[in-house]
Amino acid sequence: MRTTQVAIVGAGPSGLLLSQLLSREGIDSVVLERESREHVQGRIRAGLLEWTTVELLREAGVGGRMMQEGLIHEGFDVAFANGRHRIDLKALTGKSMLVYGQNELQKDLAETRSGEPGAVLWQVRDVALHDCDSRAPRVSYTHEGTRQELRCDFLAGCDGYHGVSRTVIPRERLAQYERVYPFGWLGLLADVPPLHAELVYARHERGFALCSMRSPGRSRYYVQCPLEDTVGEWPDGRFWDELRLRVPEWYAARLVTGPSLEKSIVPLRSLVTEPMQFGRLFLVGDAAHIVPPTGAKGLNLAAADVRVLSRALIEFYRNRSATLLEEYSTRALSRVWKATRFSWWFTRLLHRFSTDPFAQRMQSAELEYLAGSEAASRSLAENYVGLSFD
Ligand code: FAD
Ligand code: DHB
Repeated sequence: MRTTQVAIVGAGPSGLLLSQLLSREGIDSVVLERESREHVQGRIRAGLLEWTTVELLREAGVGGRMMQEGLIHEGFDVAFANGRHRIDLKALTGKSMLVYGQNELQKDLAETRSGEPGAVLWQVRDVALHDCDSRAPRVSYTHEGTRQELRCDFLAGCDGYHGVSRTVIPRERLAQYERVYPFGWLGLLADVPPLHAELVYARHERGFALCSMRSPGRSRYYVQCPLEDTVGEWPDGRFWDELRLRVPEWYAARLVTGPSLEKSIVPLRSLVTEPMQFGRLFLVGDAAHIVPPTGAKGLNLAAADVRVLSRALIEFYRNRSATLLEEYSTRALSRVWKATRFSWWFTRLLHRFSTDPFAQRMQSAELEYLAGSEAASRSLAENYVGLSFD
């Protein structure tokens, strides 16, 4: 039977980053991942990092390529009624964002962790957590055809929304708050130059659209779509036509189209699990909470949880003090709820929810208020770049 200090379930950004930060402090961990390394690195997901996330990645020693290839963004556009309002993040908050694909981050993290043989086990099956509320938790799993067991001091559930960690917490010890939105996002990745140098969030009667990017030659676009739609119903031509209709004419004229490299539909959901701890099991990132992607908080919240938990574990092993570990859930949830509120608000501001004329007028009035008020723009900017930790 193998022993480690921290057993980590899931090698998404949360699991690998936690393992890397602990390793730099001499704390041993083992990451158990269900999928192959290639599969995890190929998933096209988030693409926008808050500066606190950037700093955490640099602290972890994995920021080299990110700082060279990432694109610094000092603002973004909110487009509506065929016009545009720029949110000047730098002027309003002093902070910027970094465009860097989650899959690139996964590559950097996996490459760094591969320097420690056995620190990450890929393609692990049937992970089961045992005795989480005791002083001697265990994980059992199947790897390379053999059933194995790992003993640890602590468990980190970094296994995302569909993971196993959240499910081991007894129902009566867990509260879940959920909102399911009546639409999804259809995303398309293509090797075409972005239609604008900054991101464009567009509200239109036909539905929301987002123009994002991964590099000067690679664009990532999204359109709001019905939940029942399938990717097969959206050939590239239909996607480009719809996007062109939803952005102001000024942008539409600049849209360069090309064959898609990837297309996928994500449903939109808000979910918060309370508490984020059960005995010696700590839930991290999407395992504990989901936000709709509007405003790009998912990955950044996951990194924020890792920041809080890694500091608490380091404090425990350095000074044998469990105070920060006991505060983990409260500290993490304080940020989670604020980001959940922001993602919900930004989703509501920009999407087509109903044909109710009153609701539509309220949305237009709120957008006009935003465009005319520095206070409202600053509030949006402050939340977008990420609230401070103190
Ligand atoms: P994950 O990245 O989900 O990682 C969890 C890992 O655990 C996975 O590798 C999974 O294979 C593994 N795992 C699961 N179950 C088990 C098990 N039983 N045993 C072992 N391993 C297991 N956020 C944004 O900010 N902007 C976006 O545009 C955006 N787009 C997204 C698109 C999609 C399709 C999805 C799913 C998410 C998107 N997100 C986006 C959210 C963002 O990607 C997540 O918030 C982020 O990945 C969270 O990281 P995580 O490490 O907590 O979880
Ligand atoms: C991206 C996704 C988002 O949800 C967002 O708000 C900004 C950018 C992206 O995938 O690039």
